[in-house]
Amino acid sequence: MYPARAIAALTAREVRTYQQSHPASARLAQLSTRHWQGGVPFQWMRDWGLPFPLFVRSARGATLIDADGRSYDDFCLGDTGAMFGHSPEPIARALAAQGAQGLTAMLPGERVAAVGAALAARFGLPCWQLTLGASDANREALRWARAITGRSEILVFNGCYHGAVDETHVRLGERGAQPRAGLRGMPFEVSAHTRVVEFNDLAALAAALADGGVAAVLCEPAMTNMGLVLPESGFHAQLRQLTRRHGTVLIIDETHTLSAGPGGCTRRDGLEPDVLVCGKAIAGGMPCGVYGYTEELRARIEALPPGGADAHSGLGTTLSANLLAVAALEASLSEVMTDAAYAHMEARALRLEQGLRAQLERRALPWTVQRVGARVELGFGAKPARNGRESAAAMAPELERALHLYLLNRGVLLTPFHNMMLLSPETGESALERLLAALDAALGELDELVS
Ligand SMILES: Cc1ncc(COP(=O)(O)O)c(C=O)c1O
Repeated sequence: MYPARAIAALTAREVRTYQQSHPASARLAQLSTRHWQGGVPFQWMRDWGLPFPLFVRSARGATLIDADGRSYDDFCLGDTGAMFGHSPEPIARALAAQGAQGLTAMLPGERVAAVGAALAARFGLPCWQLTLGASDANREALRWARAITGRSEILVFNGCYHGAVDETHVRLGERGAQPRAGLRGMPFEVSAHTRVVEFNDLAALAAALADGGVAAVLCEPAMTNMGLVLPESGFHAQLRQLTRRHGTVLIIDETHTLSAGPGGCTRRDGLEPDVLVCGKAIAGGMPCGVYGYTEELRARIEALPPGGADAHSGLGTTLSANLLAVAALEASLSEVMTDAAYAHMEARALRLEQGLRAQLERRALPWTVQRVGARVELGFGAKPARNGRESAAAMAPELERALHLYLLNRGVLLTPFHNMMLLSPETGESALERLLAALDAALGELDELVS
């Protein structure tokens, strides 16, 4: 690993470069502080480790242009929302057409029957509901699981992220689930109804499910929000067997692992979730979440006792399944998330994986490269992490920030959270070359600063 002194020196220089080369973003940042908390309309926009935010002028395909007219090869792609490229033509066309014919009506549009069939065909689950995003879809899936099992507890894996779902903001502490550090304004102990075990720890999972008190396990097929942690061989088969044995609903969150192939990891690996959740890129980046479930679950939901005349489920939001989102979803499923698009993404991602590995080998850096389809991750640990604890131990936030800043100053955007690189159907070979060359140059400069 590189010494802190060298990393700090590179960061300081790159901060100055950023400040000098982004005058339009600097001006917009100054103006924006007056009316936006922290200068941004959404707090995650401050998470890039930049002296001030990068303001976007436009984004198309795999290229983003900032307010200064500078161009970037975008490997962040809106942290997955634009995984199939910015403004894919079929989505833009569908939005323009639907935009002139109604945006929202709280009634089903004519196309929902076809969209339901397309979701069922793609993911192999018969019954679907729409939300405004993956957070909402996860929240609803958990609520249904509690309702049909009559149990209050859920189980997640250490290091997980499933969106703004209060009871998943936990980590594994000395005595089990603990609230994550820094949570704001929680009116109750978020860990009160949540059990946490390490990913890939089947013994701990079996013990946690054994008393039959867990309504649902909520998990990603591969953990993508703590670096990229892959399941060990046999993990998913055992997870399925254990959840079935204990009457626990298995919810698989494919929001990020939709990168694995046209039906996510579920279709690629033959997983058998009771509920599948997806969001972000599913409607080309338009706000839309989906969750699908089995006939058995549908029947159990229908068998729930009616709540009476003033019944109130507490589920749903007004704009869910709005006409515009459904139009985007239909275009995405039929014209954007095609086998050909995935073939391109996978080939590019494989090429990036190989390029990164070759670079690490040449520099004798004992780091790791992991991949799930079109999602590639560079990790700073000596071995691939197997769980949240190992993954946290391999993080190097200062080095990460220095590298990201260096790349950004040279026209390459990485997701600000760890080293995730996403390949879209629009990502060209030359963008890969530029990423690899910029990373090589950054590591070369760090070497010089060390010597
Ligand atoms: C695996 C996973 N599920 C769900 C979500 C929530 O998505 P959204 O913020 O779009 O609701 C995220 C967000 O990063 C995620 O990574």
